[in-house]
Amino acid sequence: MGSTLVTGVGRLRPAIERHARELLEELARLPQPVDLVERFALALPVRVLCELLGVPFEDRKVLERCAAVLLRRSASAAEVAAADKARSEYFARLVEAKDQEPADDLLSELVVRHVRTGRITREQLVSLGSLLLVAGHATTANQIALSVLALLRHPEQLPVMLAGPEAASCAVDELLRHLTVVHFGLRRVATADITIGETVIRAGDGVVLAIQSANRDPDIFPEPDRLDLTRRARAHVAFGYGAHRCPGQALARAELEIALPALFRRLPGLRLAIPFDQVLFAEDSFLHGVRELPIVWESAHGAAWERKG
Ligand code: HEM
Repeated sequence: MGSTLVTGVGRLRPAIERHARELLEELARLPQPVDLVERFALALPVRVLCELLGVPFEDRKVLERCAAVLLRRSASAAEVAAADKARSEYFARLVEAKDQEPADDLLSELVVRHVRTGRITREQLVSLGSLLLVAGHATTANQIALSVLALLRHPEQLPVMLAGPEAASCAVDELLRHLTVVHFGLRRVATADITIGETVIRAGDGVVLAIQSANRDPDIFPEPDRLDLTRRARAHVAFGYGAHRCPGQALARAELEIALPALFRRLPGLRLAIPFDQVLFAEDSFLHGVRELPIVWESAHGAAWERKG
């Protein structure tokens, strides 16, 4: 599955560019300020995942609602169960439809190559589709929104992001390192005794890995707290490490490399509509992120920003 995601990304680039352009055109027509999270950061990854999986565009709201509940730490057990059920039922119907009439998308390919040949069951494909959607949506959305915030706070670094594809790709790695949106700790079990410093971890012990700390290791990234978009930060572990390293990383990178320069080019003079200390961080989420990011750009009329919820 990982290789399908990686090899498919080149093919998806034109679609990512088109969706980014369309969303920015819609956004640019709205009265200011606009919430960047809702109108761009969340919307782009959903459209891209719908494209990848072959989810009809008009169904994306159902999936967005389920993902929002599943990522909210304060969601009740009943809410989580209901969202999980709705999502699985949706994917079950979708897989059935792809089996009836395969199209040019990942789910159809998996049905034809893996379900029909008996390599995986239909149920396994349903849970894989759900997993991809959850894993690929809020992660990328939070990374887009936090990256914009970081660039607004370090405007002197923006020219690097706009200096062409190679510089943008390097800048994206530094933003991934610096922001590390997956900050709940990856869980592993030690398979052998390991000594780290003066601590011995015994085979069979559970370990929680804080990748945000690894990404600020001064031996690997000198002055780790400093955001430096020209830094060669490719060795970061924002996508994890080892067998479970994120299979969507090529897609996420492509989205960021396309979305961030496109946004700053389309909205000159982009800035926050509120002081930084009023930005609402998503404290009830498993991921580092912001709940909303009110923005204005050139020719703003300065309407008051009302907080949601
Ligand atoms: C900026 C965006 C993203 C970040 C920071 C991110 C980060 C991560 C991390 C840290 C893991 C855990 C790795 C581990 O346990 O070692 C992971 C797993 C995963 N990611 Fe991503 N991810 C992103 C985007 C995506 C996208 C776009 C997709 C799919 C379209 C995706 C699909 C997955 C899947 C399926 C897993 C589970 C892999 C496994 O357990 O073997 N991710 N991701």
